[in-house]
Amino acid sequence: MSHTSFEQRVFSGVQPTGNLHLGNYLGAIVKFVALQETHNCLYCVVDQHAITADIQPPNVLKNNIREVTAAFLAAGVDPKNHIVFNQSQVSEHAELAWVFNCIARIGWLNRMTQFKDKAGKNKENASVGLFSYPNLMAADILAYKATHVPVGDDQKQHLELARDIATKFNQDLAEAIRSCGHEGDFFPLPEPLIQGSATRVMSLRDGSKKMSKSDPSDLSRINLLDDADTIMKKMRKAKTDAEALPSGVDGLQGRAEADNLVGIFAALSNISKQSVLNDFGGKQFSDFKPALAELAVTTLSPIACEMKRLMNEPDYIDDILRDGAHKAKTIARPIMDDIKDILGFIR
Ligand code: AMP
Ligand code: TRP
Repeated sequence: MSHTSFEQRVFSGVQPTGNLHLGNYLGAIVKFVALQETHNCLYCVVDQHAITADIQPPNVLKNNIREVTAAFLAAGVDPKNHIVFNQSQVSEHAELAWVFNCIARIGWLNRMTQFKDKAGKNKENASVGLFSYPNLMAADILAYKATHVPVGDDQKQHLELARDIATKFNQDLAEAIRSCGHEGDFFPLPEPLIQGSATRVMSLRDGSKKMSKSDPSDLSRINLLDDADTIMKKMRKAKTDAEALPSGVDGLQGRAEADNLVGIFAALSNISKQSVLNDFGGKQFSDFKPALAELAVTTLSPIACEMKRLMNEPDYIDDILRDGAHKAKTIARPIMDDIKDILGFIR
């Protein structure tokens, strides 16, 4: 049975690990806002994922959780009509992740490139949580039987793993699923939504590396909380080549930095890369960069301003998260109870 027989539901998550940047905004958060028009959405601050690499000091983690929440709200996520919450308040995520630890195969996780990147050379010293991270991510999504997951391009492999886990659960437990009264598959196969011209925003210093929260160079990224002067400076210093911009998108091939900046311009103004080149083809970066910087400032300044305002009201943010967690639990609990019945856990 295909997912079309499941109620459509959107789920996505962002880790509260600090330095929220333009890649997070264009690759994920902008999509979150748009999907609210057509779908029921859950947007989760994945604090349990945020302790898989380093354990942050508690006050830092709290602040980062509030910062991601503030970014959602400032960008236009609506916590009244949709659900905004932090992962650790809904214990079903961790509960289902354990089940998925027993469904996913070690061989599947061994193929995850993000683990290899994050663990680096010292794999033996990485936490078990970092290794099983994609199982928790699958649990995040499937605890709600979510069908659509807006993410950046770097999460594609994790979504494939979530589909593999859902498929194996549906197949291996087909008989129990049927005898518990469920028709067809228990889990939908969640689809990644990776669309547009900024699914992989690259570092401003190196067009071969993605823009990342953990890059030691702050010049590599535009942070959502950067002020106008900082954004202008970072754009001015962004690495480029010496040629003028091409007039067609084919001309961006082999020019990673140019391609990246044109993609950012396109995504910020919600037009295609070709439309950007229709205006800027033949122009030098000395013309293009100030226009891009101005566009980034115009888009991001009001968001930064609202984020700062919200960060001064931590109780308000915490209320939203608590309320969202409560709403999330009313969806996840009955699904988790069904899973317990299917597995034969007495409850
Ligand atoms: P993370 O910061 O890893 O929790 O990522 C949150 C969301 O932002 C995920 O959907 C990522 O795929 C997306 N994302 C992170 N970095 C980038 C980037 N450089 N370009 C596009 N999307 C990104
Ligand atoms: N792994 C994602 C990232 O690093 C964050 C995440 C956790 C997520 N759980 C999720 C994204 C569920 C989408 C759906 O970006």
